[in-house]
Amino acid sequence: MSRFCVAGSINTDLVTKTPRFPKPGETMYGERFSTFTGGKGANQAVALAKLGADVAMVGMTGNDIYADDYLAYFKRLGVDTRGVERAETSTGIAVITVDGRGENSIIIVPGANAKVDKDYILKNRGIIEGSDYLLLQLEVPMDAVVQAARSASEAGTVVILDPAPAVPISGELLKYVDIITPNETEAEILTGVKPADEAGFAAAGQRLIEMGVKTAVLKAGNRGAYVFADSTLTHVEGFVVTAVDTTAAGDTFNAGLAFGLGRGLSMIDAVRFANAAAAISTTKPGAQDGMPSLEETERLLAGA
Ligand code: RIB
Repeated sequence: MSRFCVAGSINTDLVTKTPRFPKPGETMYGERFSTFTGGKGANQAVALAKLGADVAMVGMTGNDIYADDYLAYFKRLGVDTRGVERAETSTGIAVITVDGRGENSIIIVPGANAKVDKDYILKNRGIIEGSDYLLLQLEVPMDAVVQAARSASEAGTVVILDPAPAVPISGELLKYVDIITPNETEAEILTGVKPADEAGFAAAGQRLIEMGVKTAVLKAGNRGAYVFADSTLTHVEGFVVTAVDTTAAGDTFNAGLAFGLGRGLSMIDAVRFANAAAAISTTKPGAQDGMPSLEETERLLAGA
């Protein structure tokens, strides 16, 4: 059985549901307020755990009630938390607005996530090097992301980078990345190419390969994803579901992709698996409540 490590952020999500996003300067009433577990890193770890994977988290919480709740939740799910420490600060917070179509906008206050640095990764490198797959995102400081990718790459661990939220990325990081998974916005920011059609996806994919990654998997929302490898673009169709909240669909996609590859699926079949897991995750409110089990994902894949 493959072992997975996620190095990244742990957030508590404070979510307001509104019919539409407010305009600048406008005050409006929301329909509902909820508190959810979130954070791009932790979302990927939880999605893997829900699929039944052996997964370890490397990251930091603060020293507050949000941390108590999160650590207890990780334990219930069986996430290995040897690499999670509490910092003397607040747990990361994401203030999220979800509109009537399930689209979201997010403001992040990093809190303890900002303390995850290169030294913290070196301290936990044994967990990374002991894994078959390392999943990374960009919600902790860049020196930590680069060190985690370097440690993994040197140990022969497959590195999957979700370049979210979009920030400029160094060539040094990309040379350690096996698979990069930007959405359309992130792909445009990274490559300067707007993937508006198949030719655009191919051009963005080609550019990412030239920048140093081995395979580019470009996420295209409910249209699925485009895989660019060996100079070839392949479209992998998405699944039609009724989305109520798309928060963490991308995180679930990355977890599904890693899980599928870990089970020995081909890249295309692993992306199909990831599309199904991500689609199901949008059918419930919050980042993690909709994340599916292996059985639920296989049922959607089988067309049931
Ligand atoms: O990708 C979704 C996540 O982004 C949310 O859970 C929120 O915490 C932000 O980090």
